[in-house]
Amino acid sequence: MKFLIVDDEKNIRKTLKIILSDYECSITESDNISDAKTLIDNEIFDVAIIDIRLPDGSGLEILKYLKSLSSETVVLIITAFSSTETAIDAMKAGAYDYITKPFNLDEIRIIIKNIVEKISLQKKIKNLEHYQDAYQNIIGKSLVMRKVFNMIDKIAPFDTNVIIIGESGTGKELVAKAIHNKSRRSYKPYITINCASFPSELLESELFGYTKGAFTGAYTSKRGLIEEANNGTLFLDEIAEMPISLQAKLLRFLEEKKIRPLGSNNEVPVDVRIIAATNRDFLDLLKKGDFREDLYFRLATFEIKLPSLSERKEDIPLLIDHFVKVLSKKFNKEIIKIDPVFIDTIMQMELRGNVRELKNIIEREIILSEDGCLRFTPPHPLEVSYKLPFIEIPDSGLNLEEYLTEIEKNLLEKALLKANGVKTKAAELLGLTFREFRYKLSKYKKFTEKENE
Ligand SMILES: Nc1ncnc2c1ncn2[C@@H]1O[C@H](COP(=O)(O)OP(=O)(O)OP(=O)(O)O)[C@@H](O)[C@H]1O
Ligand SMILES: [Mg+2]
Repeated sequence: MKFLIVDDEKNIRKTLKIILSDYECSITESDNISDAKTLIDNEIFDVAIIDIRLPDGSGLEILKYLKSLSSETVVLIITAFSSTETAIDAMKAGAYDYITKPFNLDEIRIIIKNIVEKISLQKKIKNLEHYQDAYQNIIGKSLVMRKVFNMIDKIAPFDTNVIIIGESGTGKELVAKAIHNKSRRSYKPYITINCASFPSELLESELFGYTKGAFTGAYTSKRGLIEEANNGTLFLDEIAEMPISLQAKLLRFLEEKKIRPLGSNNEVPVDVRIIAATNRDFLDLLKKGDFREDLYFRLATFEIKLPSLSERKEDIPLLIDHFVKVLSKKFNKEIIKIDPVFIDTIMQMELRGNVRELKNIIEREIILSEDGCLRFTPPHPLEVSYKLPFIEIPDSGLNLEEYLTEIEKNLLEKALLKANGVKTKAAELLGLTFREFRYKLSKYKKFTEKENE
């Protein structure tokens, strides 16, 4: 527990320190407002014991400063016995309690004991919430997902590196965060960087940092993200996009656990756990030589493969429920009912964007819904993911017009067949009006009639 004592009287600070020596805590001291504010800027204190009368102003200023930072620091005010009005002001401004000078030691002991107990309890509750939060957002009870959860639980407490592999939108970022949350590093930094969003040199300076003047434009020195993540976790998203040259540098870091910022001669020891993710096929990358094998083996002490949504269809209703709850709250729209057709349609769709696509569809339908019922609005034709037939262009080439005509003809026939010959229904199946359908059909009829002539 961290205490801050602000009082200009050395003896009072000493007395307080003696009382606090009963507890396992760190104590920082200050005798004026301005230094106290700097300390507060740099550290989060659990408790601040502040004298009202300070050489550079009223201690209430520190209290107000803490509150303006919406800090959770518990503030105990020290006031002269005579000035109860200030004590009331302090309580109004959010102080936890006040003690009066001259000190009644027993009274102070009790107040401090209460504060310490209150904070320990709060910390325990927070820890518990934090633990539950760790998973809160990853939905799934299918066997494949249960295996994923099990794996997260197993590997989280250890400092091993992890690679998460999965198609786009399968929840790689969520899993990475869950591993961090469940690890002993959970209260330390969690830094993420997307390797695909920086050009090569920039990615290097982002990761390793640089000193002033290291390259044109380096006007100040900057700590790299690896160092920022010290004692915590660094999530390298889309790791496959990391240029080969930088892969070598990352590997060296993993082996030596030290980094040297660009332009610096000094090596800085850093302790980070690396979690990497990709939606690419690693075997393929390794085969093509686009990814260093030695780095891969360093990173992939454990590999978590996230299933695509089509491999866990039984989770879809759960996910729908979850997103309806979360998103209807977000958009402040009440959804009372979900059209069963909605669920059926989603179950049958090929969601290549996985959970993200599902979430987007639900978001759209919540926004569109006017009567509290969630139903399916047929998507814009471009959004439908069609399974295209495998087409190989012959060496001699092909005639696109003729080819497309053939496909169109084929689809008209299939629609007619599916609609049992009912043309209005067939037209609907292809998103055409009856007239358009009839016209197209007559065009092909002519062809076939001509062919038969
Ligand atoms: N199992 C899940 N439960 C709840 N929400 C999920 C789940 N999986 C993914 N999501 C949600 O879907 C969206 C995409 O997830 P995330 O960003 O983790 O995917 P990703 O695998 O990193 O995708 P990409 O490769 O495109 O970066 C997020 O909004 C996330 O909250
Ligand atoms: Mg991602």
